[in-house]
Amino acid sequence: MRKLLLAVAAAAILVAPAVVQAQSPIVIKFSHVVANDTPKGKGALKFKELAEKYTDGKVKVEVYPNSTLYKDKEEIEALQLGSVQMLAPSTAKFAPLGVKEFEALDLPWLFKDDETYAHAMKGTVGKWLFQKLEAKGISGLAYWDNGFHMVSSNRPLMKPTDFQGLKFRISGSKIADQYFRLMGSIPQIMAFSEVYQALQTGVVDGCENTASNYLTQKFYEVQKDITVSYHAHLQYAVIVNSKFWNGLPPDIRTQLDKAMADATDYTNSIARKENEDALAEIKKTGKTTLHYLSDADRKAWQEAMQPTYKWAKGRVGQEVLDLVAKELDVKMN
Ligand code: LMR
Repeated sequence: MRKLLLAVAAAAILVAPAVVQAQSPIVIKFSHVVANDTPKGKGALKFKELAEKYTDGKVKVEVYPNSTLYKDKEEIEALQLGSVQMLAPSTAKFAPLGVKEFEALDLPWLFKDDETYAHAMKGTVGKWLFQKLEAKGISGLAYWDNGFHMVSSNRPLMKPTDFQGLKFRISGSKIADQYFRLMGSIPQIMAFSEVYQALQTGVVDGCENTASNYLTQKFYEVQKDITVSYHAHLQYAVIVNSKFWNGLPPDIRTQLDKAMADATDYTNSIARKENEDALAEIKKTGKTTLHYLSDADRKAWQEAMQPTYKWAKGRVGQEVLDLVAKELDVKMN
């Protein structure tokens, strides 16, 4: 009997490490709406790779691209409920949460170029905006760049009058709603996954997006004319369920923070080239015509959209407008 007990005890000691190792990993479900082959898609996969590497497999990241788990609005609800742990929605999509201040980033021709955008988000604006999410049970980890919007329809959009009466899909921002209205068109909010079909069937006449999204969602197949206007900017907030994130063991959190910092550097370093390459690909297909604004055309668009700035005050509030104005050294009226 004693021998048997000793044998059992020895066996227990032998299997113990195996039991510890077999402990199931912490799973992070990372849901997003775009294709893998985009700046955000690649960023999510980079985070997965680094998070799993830095935690030595203690964390497993499951990436669900292309709205396979949730569409735009649903994914934020799912994050709050804890059904997913990480998202990277465009900052235009926070209004249903009651957080409207992010929409200041959608103001037309706000960022002069990629560098200006990156500078602003690294400074006080980015941090201030993230604080707005905390009360919603959401924590912001990073900003990921995509790039500047183009706009399209089945007719060339060169003058503000070309927009007259056309219906445009927008992703959620009331600022975008406003500048499309000022151009005489009719904006309509619609989930990203529904845009291709809506364009194809004529539910809407046009849309705005970056080149990488036009390419990977094949919008160019169903839009005869794309204007490379770069009139507004598309960026993402990488966010997590606060309760989940704060409940992680501190050593794991440190490793994940590092994985996120490295994945962010990577994503932001590839975004511009990804969009340049996508634009070249779109051109090569020959399925759509690319148009470029002359200086005079651009000025006419800017003048037509300018009242958005005044209107924005009532929507996003003066505080964020002042912060952005200070950070960018621009006038906001
Ligand atoms: C859109 O809905 O147009 C974008 O937010 C999609 C994306 O996430 O890039």
